[in-house]
Amino acid sequence: MKKLFAVLMLAALPILSFAAESEGPELETVNIDVSDKAAMQDGARTFANYCMGCHSAKFQRYERVADDLGIPHDLMLKNLVFTGAKIGDHMTTGMQPADAKAWFGAAPPDLTLVARVRGTDWLYSYLRSFYEDPARPWGVNNKIFPNVGMPNVLVGLQGRQVVGCKQVQIVEDGKKQYDPLTGTALTHEACDQLTIVPKTGALNEEQFDEKVKNLVTFLAYSANPVKLEHQRIGTYVLLYLAFFFVFAYLLKREYWKDVH
Ligand code: HEC
Repeated sequence: MKKLFAVLMLAALPILSFAAESEGPELETVNIDVSDKAAMQDGARTFANYCMGCHSAKFQRYERVADDLGIPHDLMLKNLVFTGAKIGDHMTTGMQPADAKAWFGAAPPDLTLVARVRGTDWLYSYLRSFYEDPARPWGVNNKIFPNVGMPNVLVGLQGRQVVGCKQVQIVEDGKKQYDPLTGTALTHEACDQLTIVPKTGALNEEQFDEKVKNLVTFLAYSANPVKLEHQRIGTYVLLYLAFFFVFAYLLKREYWKDVH
C-alpha cells in the first residue's frame, strides 16, 4: 500500500511542478527570429553598450559574433569592443566578481546561455519590468524578478516606470472578457500596473519594446549559435546537391548513349 502511494505521489509530481510553474507574474510573449541579422546587430550593440560593463558572454568570441552577424571586424572592434580586447578574445567583462558582489549583493551572471535557462519571454518581460521603488538600494525593483540586485540600466531609453492604477481588460480562464451585448472589452481598475512617465526616456514605448526584442534576439542567438550554422550548412548542402545533379545527369546521358 505504501509503495502504491509512493508511486502515485511520483506520478503526480509533474502536475505539482507544473502548478508551481504557472504561478508568479504573467510573462509577455515575444516572437524571436534568430535569422534576422539586422535585429541581432542592433541587439549586439545594445549588449556591448549597456550590459557588458557588468555581464560577460564568455563562451562567445567577438570574432564569431562579427562573422555570424555580418559585421566587419574593424567595425566590430570600433563600435562593440570597449575593453581593449582583441577580435579573437572571449566576450568577458572588466568587472571583478568580488567587486560586483560587494556592490550589488550578487555577482552579475554570465549571459551567454541565459536565453536557454530563462527563455526569451522571461528575458523580454524582465528587461521591461523595472519600476521605481525607493525602498530598494538602487531605487528600482522588478516585477518579474522581485528585489533584484541589478539597477535599471535601460532607464535612459525607456524612461521612468512606476506602479500605478490602470484600466485593464478582465481575463477569466485565460480568455479576455467582452460585453456580450456591445462587444466592448470589460475592464476593471488594477493598481499593480506598470506605467511609463511620458517623455522621460529617449525612446517611445514601441521603439523601446523593439530595442529590447532585438537585444533578446541577440541573446537567443548567443545561447544557440549553431542554429545559424545549421542554416548556412543547409544552404551549402542544397547547392552541392543541385550542382551534383547536373553532373550525374550528364554522366547518365553519356553512359546510355552507347546502350541505345
Ligand atoms: C551595473 C551592473 C549591471 C548592468 C550594467 C547590467 N546588469 Fe544584469 N544583473 C546585474 C546583477 C548584479 C544581477 C544579479 C541580480 C540578482 O541576482 O539579484 C543581474 C542579473 C541579470 C539577469 C538575471 C540573470 C538570472 O538568470 O538570474 C539578467 C537576464 C540580466 N541581468 C540581464 C542584463 C542585460 C540584458 C543587461 C543590459 C541591458 C544588464 N543585465 C546590465 C548587474 C547588471
